[in-house]
Amino acid sequence: MFLISIGIITIIVVIFIIQFKFKTNKLYDKMLYGHHIMITGGSRGIGKCVAMEAARLGANITIVARDATRLKAAANDIKSQFIKKNQKLHYISIDLGSEYNSVKNALDCAIQEIGPLYMLVNCAGMAICGTLEEMSINDILKLINVNLISTIQATKAVISDMKKTGHGTIVITASQAAMCGIYGLGVYSATKFALRGFAEALSMETKAYGIKITLALPSDTDTPGFAEENKSKPLETLLISESGHLFTPEQVGHQIFKDALEGNFFSTIGFEGHLLTIGCSGMAPCTSYFELVCQVVFSGLLRLIVIYYQAKFYKIIKTCKLEREENSRKIS
Ligand SMILES: NC(=O)c1ccc[n+]([C@@H]2O[C@H](COP(=O)([O-])OP(=O)(O)OC[C@H]3O[C@@H](n4cnc5c(N)ncnc54)[C@H](OP(=O)(O)O)[C@@H]3O)[C@@H](O)[C@H]2O)c1
Repeated sequence: MFLISIGIITIIVVIFIIQFKFKTNKLYDKMLYGHHIMITGGSRGIGKCVAMEAARLGANITIVARDATRLKAAANDIKSQFIKKNQKLHYISIDLGSEYNSVKNALDCAIQEIGPLYMLVNCAGMAICGTLEEMSINDILKLINVNLISTIQATKAVISDMKKTGHGTIVITASQAAMCGIYGLGVYSATKFALRGFAEALSMETKAYGIKITLALPSDTDTPGFAEENKSKPLETLLISESGHLFTPEQVGHQIFKDALEGNFFSTIGFEGHLLTIGCSGMAPCTSYFELVCQVVFSGLLRLIVIYYQAKFYKIIKTCKLEREENSRKIS
């Protein structure tokens, strides 16, 4: 039994190495001259890093965000990565959660100016943390609007044209919090779980039209948005997320773009990310045999690992509660 298990693991590792090498070479052979890539949230953080990657592969780029000054500065940085004189860059200052027709008109203008879309990368998003009692209704509605409505509106605005051209890729940026609910991230998680459902359904609706969907599940990433998010994190959430790795936006942007170009449904990074996509694969589309083998072979074992992590998190929460009660006893 032991030898059979070792044999299976060795075969999987060999397939992984072969597949990784093959795909890496394929990506860097791929240039995107003349292709139009639109990135929402492209003025900073992960979205800007995706735009820089696309610029280095020769694509024409549109970035979308609200703050026009930041967009202008990002546009200059992205242009500095161009490899051809005739590459184009367009930027749109709009709130993607505002009235649908104005969002549609703004994105249509970019498509008319730069050309049909090859890829839409939805990166606009934000996090506000807090337990349900702590969060204001305004913040709850804001999270739903920015994370969910903005992504749905941007995607709806481009989907018909993509179907007509018969190809295209749409990236939906969720989070690892789309796979598991964590203390202090309830509403954020709700918006990101919703995006997972949206991505799965969209994949079913568009596959026959040659459109690929990638669901990006970044882990903690050192961006301006993350610095902002940390200000509202309860102690429990901070302690739980400290057990994970902090990635750079360049690493995450590179991974998302690579997975989107390869047509992978899940885009994730780091050990925990891979654990989650294997353990929570559910009805997600399968885009690689290797991924399928891992899901079939390891999901039972992963359930046990997940229960271990969960017990660790509950212990943190209990300790914080006891410390809080002790402190308030001392004060009173
Ligand atoms: N950083 C992390 O640790 C992490 C982890 C998991 C998932 N994610 C997800 O990854 C995505 C990018 O995160 P990030 O950390 O790179 O965020 P960020 O640094 O705050 O950047 C967010 C970008 O989205 C734009 N944006 C926000 N709301 C918008 C709206 N209503 N309309 C148009 N543009 C809007 C922002 O520009 P304006 O403010 O000028 O509009 C900015 O360009 C988000 O969906 C986030 O939830 C991040």
